[in-house]
Amino acid sequence: MDFKDKVVLVSGATGGMAQEIIKILSKENCKQAIFARREEKLKEISKNITDCIYQKCDVSNPGDVKKAVEFTNIKFGRIDIAILTAGILVPIPIQTFNSKLIRDSMEINFMGNVYFIEHLLPIMKKQKSGTIAVFSTLPDKRGVPGWGTYGASKSALSWLLESLRAESKQRYNIDIITIKPGSVKTPMIEGFNRRGAISSENAAKIIVNGIKKGKKVIEFPLFQVLLTKITNLMPVFAYDLFPIEESKGEGFPQIEEKL
Ligand SMILES: NC(=O)c1ccc[n+]([C@@H]2O[C@H](COP(=O)([O-])OP(=O)(O)OC[C@H]3O[C@@H](n4cnc5c(N)ncnc54)[C@H](OP(=O)(O)O)[C@@H]3O)[C@@H](O)[C@H]2O)c1
Repeated sequence: MDFKDKVVLVSGATGGMAQEIIKILSKENCKQAIFARREEKLKEISKNITDCIYQKCDVSNPGDVKKAVEFTNIKFGRIDIAILTAGILVPIPIQTFNSKLIRDSMEINFMGNVYFIEHLLPIMKKQKSGTIAVFSTLPDKRGVPGWGTYGASKSALSWLLESLRAESKQRYNIDIITIKPGSVKTPMIEGFNRRGAISSENAAKIIVNGIKKGKKVIEFPLFQVLLTKITNLMPVFAYDLFPIEESKGEGFPQIEEKL
């Protein structure tokens, strides 16, 4: 896979990892269509890219996503690669467990990508080619104390992408890539547990190289990948013995409860 002259759509383009990906792609002579909610920031980012269009897009709004895909296809005449990064990380302390937080995360982390896939597929089917690379997370198989809302939305996403992958390739020559980062230093995890986090520049290099190599799953960093694979094999009774505060970090809401 070569990015030269390709049309690349990026969602969540104002984010830590997306900005680094966009920087790398700007040296690869491709055309970029970038989307996020903060329009001023998009404008600023686009100034440094030769062939770049941008538009405000809230991925939890199906109309916005439809417009984003149409805008890209009308302006550039095709969409070769979509890199869907938009996401939120919201802690969910058990003391204040509520459905709204879970619905919000599902709307952005899960449905936001579903809306994109819905509108990208018909275009890529007609082209008989395309790549859709979507950000899930490395620990997408087992629950983590305090992060149930995030993990549930990403786990659902990984399941969906894996279900689509073989069929989209065999029927339409469309590649679906699941990107599974471990910890990466971006605004998203500021204040939470950042142990072993790699820089967003390094993460972006791994992701762009992975897409170029045609990987189906891009997971990193290696040490965390190995650790996750080991914990995935642990029996439930042993997994439940992990100290519950370990996974949270100092920014996690501390809540005094009166029962
Ligand atoms: N950092 C990590 O350690 C880590 C680990 C595993 C997975 N991930 C995943 O990697 C992806 C990128 O994360 P990051 O660390 O680069 O995070 P980030 O710096 O917080 O960037 C996320 C971007 O998503 C955009 N976004 C949030 N809600 C949106 C909405 N409703 N509509 C449109 N855009 C929205 C935000 O842009 P606007 O505010 O401008 O809309 C924000 O810039 C995310 O999907 C995240 O879940 C990150």
